[in-house]
Amino acid sequence: MQTVEVKAPAKINLTLDVLGKREDGYHDLRMVMQSVDLCDTLTLADGGGAGVRVSSNVGFLPCDERNLAAAAALAFWRALDIPAQPLDITLKKIIPVCAGLGGGSSDAAAVLRGMNLRHNAGLSLTELAKIGERVGSDVPYCVLGSTALAEGRGEVLRELPTLPKCWAVLCKPDFSVSTPALFGKIDSVRLRCHPDTEGMLRALEQGDLPGVTRRLYNVFEDALPERCADKVNQVKNVLIDCGALGAVMSGTGSAVYGLFDNEQAAQQAKAELLKLYPETFLAQTV
Ligand code: C5P
Repeated sequence: MQTVEVKAPAKINLTLDVLGKREDGYHDLRMVMQSVDLCDTLTLADGGGAGVRVSSNVGFLPCDERNLAAAAALAFWRALDIPAQPLDITLKKIIPVCAGLGGGSSDAAAVLRGMNLRHNAGLSLTELAKIGERVGSDVPYCVLGSTALAEGRGEVLRELPTLPKCWAVLCKPDFSVSTPALFGKIDSVRLRCHPDTEGMLRALEQGDLPGVTRRLYNVFEDALPERCADKVNQVKNVLIDCGALGAVMSGTGSAVYGLFDNEQAAQQAKAELLKLYPETFLAQTV
């Protein structure tokens, strides 16, 4: 079967709101998502051993179905009633891990797109997104990419007008957050406020970049332990001092990003943040 190479772009949350806890243990969310051109690359090839094996340039990632890339391949076969086959997935990881940038979910989404090609299955993106629901809450959005409103568990999607092209400087401070733990904590903290999601949707409709950047907001910043919140604020301050139009944490963190309408200022911010944290990147919105 043909070997395919697929790209997996990172995502950032322009807004992230938690509406409440559900009976199934998940939370109802309302978030505006955006993809950026910071990408992992995956190659899907006939396997040399049994089952699905994932190899990557990051030593600590699991090689079996605990890796979302492998889970996606298995979910694809299950959905199409195709018996599992030996498959080797080679993952070149660029997106920081455990950063709130959707790296694992985007890898899974890329595998679904790649499997669709390998098997000539001809599934639509909507059908692939449906399969992705079983792999992880952010996977359906990652199948679609671009600018979208995600609701429910994250799987109820509405395409939005694309964000006017701009630069994003992304920086992961030197701590990681457990997503389930932060979701657990959000139930017990008093949220200071919520994002102006309606205003964000209007700003996108009008192609109003300053209107978008004024409304960047993530409720999870309120649930961070103080020491972590200090680091997030430190990164935000550097971004704003360098000319970012706005800056906020993405997902459940710990990556923080700033949006710039000026590439030179973005380069400067990247250089300043690299002095603090090595996992700093410059990307463009896509
Ligand atoms: O769906 P996924 O496996 O990516 O979710 C990881 C964890 O994040 C869940 O186990 C849950 O603790 C939390 N989560 C949640 N509500 C969501 C999405 C994720 O509580 N809508």
